[in-house]
Amino acid sequence: MSGAGLRVRDLRVVFDGFAAVGGVDIDIPPGDVRFIIGPNGAGKTTLVDAVTGLVRASGSVTFDGQELVGRKVHRIARMGIGRTFQTATVFEELTVLQNLDIAAGAGRGPLTLLRRRRGVPAGVAEAMDTVGLAGARDRPAGTLAHGQKQWLEIGMLLVQDARLLLLDEPVAGMSHDERDATGELLGVLSADRTVVVIEHDMDFLRRYARTVTVMHAGRILSEGTVAQVQADPKVREVYLGRAADAAPTATTGTPVEA
Ligand SMILES: Nc1ncnc2c1ncn2[C@@H]1O[C@H](COP(=O)(O)OP(=O)(O)OP(=O)(O)O)[C@@H](O)[C@H]1O
Ligand SMILES: [Mg+2]
Repeated sequence: MSGAGLRVRDLRVVFDGFAAVGGVDIDIPPGDVRFIIGPNGAGKTTLVDAVTGLVRASGSVTFDGQELVGRKVHRIARMGIGRTFQTATVFEELTVLQNLDIAAGAGRGPLTLLRRRRGVPAGVAEAMDTVGLAGARDRPAGTLAHGQKQWLEIGMLLVQDARLLLLDEPVAGMSHDERDATGELLGVLSADRTVVVIEHDMDFLRRYARTVTVMHAGRILSEGTVAQVQADPKVREVYLGRAADAAPTATTGTPVEA
């Protein structure tokens, strides 16, 4: 199993002399549902940007033994690494099916695309079922509910055969029911994939995280099960310190309660 899953060593991302990610080591085994939490500006999104090739980084990131640092974004995507963004990025005028079709076609030859026009390819149908959008197949993505757009984005990663899913705040702005559905989806996804979720929602974390990494100021502050992390005095200090700030926002400053 050595090399399987995601392995990060001494990862650093520096912007104009400022270390947004300042030497991070993380191991995430296949099948994990790892939540990464931390205050605003902790470096969570930058970490995912570094893993997916969107920002220059030093150090090492391997997935199933293959080095990602230094590779181009599209090559990393083709190696089975998929990510969603804090705001959904689907083609609003195109239907659910068309969005998935385009995602599935990315990187494939024109002949394959032509052949696939005749029907819904198995992989696309399966992804639609998995993310619960089979009933919305012919609806323009722009008319989908907020939660459904996030699920469509996840579906687009599934048709690309992503084996590592990095989801940046997937339940932000979701209704209670949408959150529950997304939590269930994480479990399904992790059956044969590695799932990493950046999240501020502590209630959601308690229910659906298998393991947790806490980032603070570009570094790993704590790591373990939900209970271990919640009991860690360092974590409590960072979160309680923020909760005492004058104006905590809706998505941050939520204290980690025991
Ligand atoms: N392209 C950039 N250029 C300069 N600084 C950046 C850039 N991207 C991020 N930063 C800085 O790096 C730090 C980490 O940002 P990052 O977006 O990774 O935090 P985060 O943990 O995802 O926060 P949030 O919870 O608010 O999404 C912040 O101080 C941010 O201002
Ligand atoms: Mg972020």
